[in-house]
Order: sequence, then C-alpha cells, then structure tokens
Amino acid sequence: MTKKIAILPGDGIGPEIIHESLKVLSCLRDTHGVSLTWEVAPFGGAGYDAAKTPLPPDTLALCEQADAILLGAVGGPQYDTLPRELRPERGLLGLRASLDLFSNLRPAILFPQLASASSLKPDLVSGLDIMIVRELTGGIYFGQPRGIDQTDSGERRGYNTLVYTESEIQRIAISAFETAMRRQRRLCSVDKANVLEVSELWREIFVDTGKQYPDVELSHMYVDNASMQLVRAPKQFDVIATTNMFGDILSDTAAMLTGSIGMLPSASLNATGQGLYEPIHGSAPDIAGQGIANPLATLLSVAMMFRHSLDDNESAERIETAVSRVLDGGLRTADIAEGGASVSTQTMGDAVVRELAQL
Ligand code: IPM
Ligand code: MG
Repeated sequence: MTKKIAILPGDGIGPEIIHESLKVLSCLRDTHGVSLTWEVAPFGGAGYDAAKTPLPPDTLALCEQADAILLGAVGGPQYDTLPRELRPERGLLGLRASLDLFSNLRPAILFPQLASASSLKPDLVSGLDIMIVRELTGGIYFGQPRGIDQTDSGERRGYNTLVYTESEIQRIAISAFETAMRRQRRLCSVDKANVLEVSELWREIFVDTGKQYPDVELSHMYVDNASMQLVRAPKQFDVIATTNMFGDILSDTAAMLTGSIGMLPSASLNATGQGLYEPIHGSAPDIAGQGIANPLATLLSVAMMFRHSLDDNESAERIETAVSRVLDGGLRTADIAEGGASVSTQTMGDAVVRELAQL
C-alpha cells in the first residue's frame, strides 16, 4: 500500500533541511521501490503567512489523512509579537493535541564519529545512548484553568494547572515500558513526588504498570536530581519517562550532552502508530537561508518515521547506515566541524543520498 506523508517545512532553516529529506524520499522511491507519496503544506509562521493561522485547516486535514508527518521546525523573531494564539508554537501544540500525539521519543545518542564534540569529558559520554519518553499532550502545557487575570486587590495573577488523569499516565507508562523492552530494559521515571500530588499519582501508576513488565527494572528519580545526574553520570540511564514540562527541559540537556543537537531526531506518536517526526533542534533563524544548517537530524527523523509509522525497518536502517558512512567519510556541517572544514546543507544531503542509492 502506498504510504502518504505530510511534509511541513515550517520556518527558519526548516525549508532547507526538509529539502534534503525530500531527496532521500525520492531516492527510496525511485531506487529502492518504496511506495510513497507526499504533499507539502504551510505550518507555523509559514502557516500564518499563508492563511493567518499557524495550523491552517487544510494543513490539519492533510496531517489527519497522512500515515506520518515530517516537520522541519517552527518559529522566528518576526512572529514573536503576534498574539499568543497565532504564534508558531501554538500551531505545534495544536497539532500534537489534534492528533493525540501523546508519546514523544527523544533519543540522545553520541555518534562515535563526533565523540569530542560534547562539552563533557569523553569518558563520561562515549557510547551514550539514552531514550527520553516525554508525555506530550497533557500536564501543565494543556491543563485548565490557565490564564492571566486580576486578584480582588487588583493585582495581576498568572496561573497554569499541572494535571494528569490516571489514563493519561497509564498510556505513557505503557509506551515507556514497551520502549524499555526494546532496549536495555531499564526505565527511570522522573517526577517531583516529594512535593506534588500529581507526581505521587504518576509514580503509583508507573509502579502498577510495571507489574506487567517484570523484565524491566523500574526506578524513580526526582527531577532536580535527574537534571544533576544527566550531567554527572549520564550513562546510568537507558530510558527516562517523564511529564510534558520536565521532558521539555531534560531532553534539551540530554541532547546537548551529545554535542550534536544538529544530529538528533524525534518522534511523537499516537495510539494508532501515526506520528509526527522532527529534528530536536529549532528553526535557528540566525542561520536561516545561508545553506549551512545540518540536515542530518531531519534525515534521521525520516529514518524514525519509517521504523515507527511506516512499518519499514529496511528503509530506516538504510538511511541510518548512509548517514553513518557519510560521517565516517569525514564530511561535517559547520555545527559539528569543531573548527575544521565544513560543507553546506546541500552537499551533506547529496552525500547521504549517494550512499543511500548504493545500499
Ligand atoms: C519542544 C519545544 C516546544 C515545547 C515549543 C516550541 C512549544 O520546546 O518541542 O521541545 O515546549 O514542547
Ligand atoms: Mg523544548
């Protein structure tokens, strides 16, 4: 059956890196006979420019019908002064909520070819391979009530609500345990159960769910300690499961440990296996349009897409092997060049496609 992909280039460097991923899709289709179609749609700031909303209804409809969605990045300074509900970030939150993409997988892998790019000592990070499973459609990002209003004394007051239901916790717990089963079977649930009732419930449900997974070693850690452990001894972790906001914060730390945020992909999945795939890095407006962005995080997101939503491990492995060979060959974009010679976005993309065509 032909798989259908919605392509959302977005803003900043998004269009440049997505351009390279389309070459990869074309190569898989034309050289390897993978049955694929795709359609490009405006989203984020580009959605606002095209249709005065970051998530235009036609874009949402396209995403709903697609087997998978590939996103570049959203956001840029020109949109920061828009009313909150029109900002690019709102489009992303709206898409996550509309498609119920509750399980966000964010790997932090140190590529051996880039071992010296980390800001930590090589022995602390060599071989690092962590998977963060972040709850993505609940918690304080979406809890009600929220807002800014006035107290009786006329002072302004801002508030958000950190809320999780049992079923929301249970489904992310299952996703995390399943992820751990496919890896080293060690799961660390990160919470703030020493202070927050919602974390108490979170912990209780992780313990309960764990009874169905006797082969997975479950541990618990408070988020403040987890942030410290991530920079002290990151290799102690296999899978980390946590809430929406804690996951937002810890996943940036974990990504930076690898010294190569331009290399890291992510997947956001719903219960049907449909997923949104995007690089972990942002829209990098400071380098947009210069043709120097690293396309590899996006290409590796395409690999994740084949594995998790398109049921095609072979294509996933081909892409990952092609990327690895290009790194072995010494090609580097500026962000991973460590002061040495660097190549353009396009040269890097073309090199991956050349390897891919031969695999
Ligand atoms: C991320 C981003 C988003 C988030 C923003 C852009 C809304 O930081 O995907 O980590 O906070 O979830
Ligand atoms: Mg973030």
